[in-house]
Amino acid sequence: MTGATVHRHRTAMVRHTLSQPMSLAVRHRMVRPGVTVFDYGCGQGDDLRALGAAGVEAVGWDPHFAPEAPRHDAEIVNLGFVLNVIEDPVERVGALKGAWALATRVLVVSVMIVGAVPVDGLRRFGDGYLTARGTFQKYFQQAELKAMLYQVTGVEPVALAPGIFALFRSPEDEQDFLLERRRGRRASTWTYRADRPARTAAERPQLADRIAKAIGAIASFALERGRLPHPDEVPSDVHDLLAVERVSFTRAIEASHDAGIDAKLYARAASERREDLLVHQALNILNRSHTAARPSPAMVRDIRQHFGSQQQFGEQALEYLHALADPQRTVTAMQRASDAGLGTIDEDGRLVIDSERVAQLEGVLRCYVGCALYLSGDIEQEHIVRLDPLRRRTTLFPLTGRRQPFPKTLTSITIDLKRQDVIVRNDPRILVRKADVFGMGRRSRQRSAEVEHRAATGIGEAKVLAKT
Ligand SMILES: C[S@@+](CC[C@H](N)C(=O)[O-])C[C@H]1O[C@@H](n2cnc3c(N)ncnc32)[C@H](O)[C@@H]1O
Repeated sequence: MTGATVHRHRTAMVRHTLSQPMSLAVRHRMVRPGVTVFDYGCGQGDDLRALGAAGVEAVGWDPHFAPEAPRHDAEIVNLGFVLNVIEDPVERVGALKGAWALATRVLVVSVMIVGAVPVDGLRRFGDGYLTARGTFQKYFQQAELKAMLYQVTGVEPVALAPGIFALFRSPEDEQDFLLERRRGRRASTWTYRADRPARTAAERPQLADRIAKAIGAIASFALERGRLPHPDEVPSDVHDLLAVERVSFTRAIEASHDAGIDAKLYARAASERREDLLVHQALNILNRSHTAARPSPAMVRDIRQHFGSQQQFGEQALEYLHALADPQRTVTAMQRASDAGLGTIDEDGRLVIDSERVAQLEGVLRCYVGCALYLSGDIEQEHIVRLDPLRRRTTLFPLTGRRQPFPKTLTSITIDLKRQDVIVRNDPRILVRKADVFGMGRRSRQRSAEVEHRAATGIGEAKVLAKT
């Protein structure tokens, strides 16, 4: 390394919206009012102002912008795009240790990742690059960052997105997070439906009227998890209301059954939860999760309700995994998905599907996608997913211009399950079979446009993504 001066603080940008890691932490409900947040290396503090405006208690420290601020413990600590601006690898580890020491529940770490930004013309410096503004940038490989986090903290990192990981102090918190994230993709409408009373107020018996709020909370829980809540699992104001009305919790549960819970929706929620738990456990086994043996009390209740015992649950999850190891089974499931209009098979026998519809796939394929997302984390932008079980790869293509007849993708994110790595590439392509991928009608205008496009360009009928 030559003696260049590195101006680290110049990397801190002015933000008008939350940074990606903070926004992920909010979306995953790790950060919410009532939870304390500390931003380690907070830059100009825009994340802190945005969180404060939303009622979240958030403070931070930065060696340049807020050097005097005290470094506090907090439930959630953010180390956002700090490690990548530090040119000294020993100091990098020091910053990571410092942030981890403050996190009582979760540390969220984000860095710039290889492939995200072109580096042509930049001067190499140590294990990174010097920019024209005199700042240093190291671009991490996903696997490299994951290994560093594990080495320094001794905790298995959970990928939230490419270049962003969460480290959980307690296995129970990690297990709750993983299950909620997996099911979050598919079940967000349940709560919405649950808020609608199944009967009109006029039809309700008197008791149901008096404790309507409690019934709402119980029904909402039941339709989300497919089981009735334990008294610990409803908010304290429900208990307050029941105490005022002198109604026991058991009586409130009975009243909810009579007045608030639609039987069909309840049965469906139970079957969805069952499958969610199976996929979750199969992924835990596959990823050798260190926290799998420590489910939260709520999850233990779910397992008992939906599987009878932990042992039966484990056995059924293993069956899922066996299905994954059998390529013929995955190939058959992909064919069934394509026949059902859930995406399409491309020229190399891979299933290409809209990410929004992955939740509708059979468990074996969801498990396959889940394994990939475990390594890469979520992709916030709209994208399509290409499953290639024979080569044990899954590739995600973020889309721009989704409403256009031929949406574009600029990068591909390939998750190599064999090598357990994530490779981001500059890979411009055009989606040439949008009608099949999005399940559009046989006579749609889109299909005619695609036929014309194929005739004009000579692109093969089975091709789904064409290089530009
Ligand atoms: C790219 S900015 C990120 C700021 C903020 N976290 C965000 O996402 O907007 C990097 C910040 O790291 C700070 N920084 C540099 N060295 C640090 C260290 N050893 N510990 C903590 N922060 C550091 C810099 O002052 C700079 O504000």
